[in-house]
Amino acid sequence: MSELIRLVYASRAAFEPVPVKQGVEPSVGRILMQSRRNNAHANIGGVLYFGDGYFFQALEGERQAVNQAYRRIAADLRHREVTILSLKTVSERFFADWSMKYVPAEEAVKQFIRSHNYQRFEPLKFQETEAEALIELFHSYGDAGAKIKKKGGWFGLRKLFAS
Ligand SMILES: Cc1cc2nc3c(=O)[nH]c(=O)nc-3n(C[C@H](O)[C@H](O)[C@H](O)COP(=O)(O)O)c2cc1C
Repeated sequence: MSELIRLVYASRAAFEPVPVKQGVEPSVGRILMQSRRNNAHANIGGVLYFGDGYFFQALEGERQAVNQAYRRIAADLRHREVTILSLKTVSERFFADWSMKYVPAEEAVKQFIRSHNYQRFEPLKFQETEAEALIELFHSYGDAGAKIKKKGGWFGLRKLFAS
């Protein structure tokens, strides 16, 4: 087995987000569906956060598979300024149960931003340590209530759109 890596990047959405009261912004929802389908096949996973027009994502898995997915993602016209914040060899995956965890963590992110002296969510400016700290926060996010942790599939989506 080749090395496991975790790649964390941020980017700016190229579309104007539709305001949603509950659930997931529709373009982001489509990205999640694609991610879950493809990542499950490629045996990679991770976490995605979308806030203030920015994406913040971790991809985990074998080096080659993560690189392959990242190349495809970076070329996607739905975002730009795709910026790698951290790339590390890891001994285990944080998001091993997820083809792509989605975290509606607005309040937690607000607190994180304040405690790191940012005015708003500007992940393109994050230092490596800040990116890694936020990923750790997302790692534990929602654990209390999250009983259904399926790799992609219908349960994941039901839970996603219900929350
Ligand atoms: C912010 C963002 C995150 C994405 N994350 C993933 C991902 O984790 N896995 C994936 O396969 N595609 C992801 N995509 C979509 C890919 O860029 C690409 O559209 C998709 O993999 C093509 O899949 P298809 O060949 O099945 O249509 C992401 C796109 C964006 C804009």
